[in-house]
Amino acid sequence: MDETITQKQEVITQNHHGDVVIKIEHLKKSFGDNKVLQDINLELHKGENIVVLGRSGQGKSVAIQCIAGLMQQDEGVLQVLGKEVKEMTRSELKEMRIKIGFLFQSGALYDSMTVRENLSFPLTRVLKLKDKQELEKKVQEALESVGLEDAIDKFPSDLSGGMRKRVGLARTLILRPEIMLYDEPTTGLDPITSREISELIVKLQEKYDTSSIIITHDLSCARLTADKIVVMNDGKFIAIGTYDELLKSKDELVNNFFK
Ligand SMILES: Nc1ncnc2c1ncn2[C@@H]1O[C@H](COP(=O)(O)OP(=O)(O)O)[C@@H](O)[C@H]1O
Ligand SMILES: [Mg+2]
Repeated sequence: MDETITQKQEVITQNHHGDVVIKIEHLKKSFGDNKVLQDINLELHKGENIVVLGRSGQGKSVAIQCIAGLMQQDEGVLQVLGKEVKEMTRSELKEMRIKIGFLFQSGALYDSMTVRENLSFPLTRVLKLKDKQELEKKVQEALESVGLEDAIDKFPSDLSGGMRKRVGLARTLILRPEIMLYDEPTTGLDPITSREISELIVKLQEKYDTSSIIITHDLSCARLTADKIVVMNDGKFIAIGTYDELLKSKDELVNNFFK
């Protein structure tokens, strides 16, 4: 484990001056009286993995949906790949959504489609790819990258939870996003499968040099995947640091997460 942490810290140092791919300043979002995001500030650099760690109901999914352009903030700066999201035209938003891969909590596969059809779908619909051979090649490549070549003709209901997550990941990565957003990638999985998914996230991150925000309440997922961890509480980010740094934090709220 120490080795992983050291490697991660080297990555942070190397990428520290990389381009800022997501910039968030004083982001706020309420639903009626429910002030969900109160003051969110964050910079994600190219090639970096940031984990947002927080208990349930803290606004993690709301934050990630704002970043993905699926929900609009009330106030604050939110720039993705150098552009303010709320000022984007419809076609700029569309372009941005192709560059951002979003792995939903549920995995969101189509149950009536085989794995091949699930993976082909974004290629035909978003990229308008028609060439059968090219489609098949990309689908096979994507499945290979998540270690599931044999599942190509199966239906989601034939697969375990961990395998469905892998297919969801392959389907998101097939469009080669520059930024990956993960909402609770390990929730509902057993500890061994969780670990496999966390390791896969790191492996794919290195392979494709993506920048990622990973939202989780799973500390071991955070430890395995994060260059930096941000702790979220009451709609604010209350601490930021490496796993090791936060582990030593004297702040009681931060400490509670590391028990
Ligand atoms: N579309 C919505 N409309 C109204 N309230 C919402 C909506 N989405 C989330 N909320 C509220 O925002 C708060 C944070 O939710 P969420 O971001 O899902 O938490 P987390 O992902 O950290 O568990 C909750 O109180 C939830 O009820
Ligand atoms: Mg959530």
